[in-house]
Amino acid sequence: SKPRILVARAIFPDIVDRLRAHFDVEDNPDDVIWTPAELAARLADKDGVLTTGSQRVDAALLAAAPRLKICANMAVGYNNFDVDAMTAAGVLGTNTPDVLTETTADFGFALLMATARRMTESEHYLRAGKWTKWSYDMFAGSDIHGSTLGIIGMGRIGQGIAKRGAHGFGMKVVYHNRSRLSADLEAECKATYVGKEDLLRTADHVVLVVPYSAASHHTIGAAELALMKPTATLINIARGGIVDDAALAVALREGRIAAAGLDVFEGEPSVHPDLLTVPNVVLTPHIASATVPTRRAMANLAADNLIAFLGGRAPLTPVNQPVPGLRAQ
Ligand code: GLV
Ligand code: GLV
Repeated sequence: SKPRILVARAIFPDIVDRLRAHFDVEDNPDDVIWTPAELAARLADKDGVLTTGSQRVDAALLAAAPRLKICANMAVGYNNFDVDAMTAAGVLGTNTPDVLTETTADFGFALLMATARRMTESEHYLRAGKWTKWSYDMFAGSDIHGSTLGIIGMGRIGQGIAKRGAHGFGMKVVYHNRSRLSADLEAECKATYVGKEDLLRTADHVVLVVPYSAASHHTIGAAELALMKPTATLINIARGGIVDDAALAVALREGRIAAAGLDVFEGEPSVHPDLLTVPNVVLTPHIASATVPTRRAMANLAADNLIAFLGGRAPLTPVNQPVPGLRAQ
């Protein structure tokens, strides 16, 4: 008989149909948000699961799913996985790198431009009927072209943003990362490696693209915000928890930095109430990879990982290397 899989959230119906050719599929077309216990109950007899980044996979879930062999995340980030617990239990994790790189870099740049040029704040003003006359400083923001772009997290997406800034907008690009890029990649991105404090002190715009981990928790908190220029903008397209959102709301309210653009939030889909009331912040609901072609490519890559691995072949984009054969057949 076919392996059994769960598709934990609603995805493109034709891609679920593709999976049905290979597997007995239980899906979630109504997109119900299951509790961890409901998810665990559905995984009791499953060999694989397609997750979206909002289902936590930890030791307790793995213990309740003795046949589970693969969790295919439809996201590049996989901080919803307890990778050590998965590896110890013999469960493979996969993610969706590469297919979303350029789309996400486009969005990072869009959020940067919307933030620096105060696009949503000014639109709210217009819609509210407050635009009755021109004035010399109305929604005057900061420049993108020719300014200094600081990127924290120089993976593929960070490099995509660097190239847009350097080649398209004549920005001076500095970056900070756990490791330096090769000289070739630095030249391609026209990016200069600097220390984190140096970056925060000198950048006109700071963009965060670092993966979430315990080590990157609150990469930007009150102390880091205090180092930034009062005219600077901060963009977070990485993960909630990379920024201390409460500290950021205070810095924005007090004008200690000029503005922020946020696509991800601590505790999302809840948003810190103080961020909802400060005017100098652009807020979007975790949509940086959301174009139709890219979301399809992400779903298809997650499906390809399930089809390959449960069909006895190598997964395309693994995030760990579990010892095989530890799981019930
Ligand atoms: C989205 O946040 C992703 O990790 O793909
Ligand atoms: C994210 O930073 C990536 O490397 O794609």
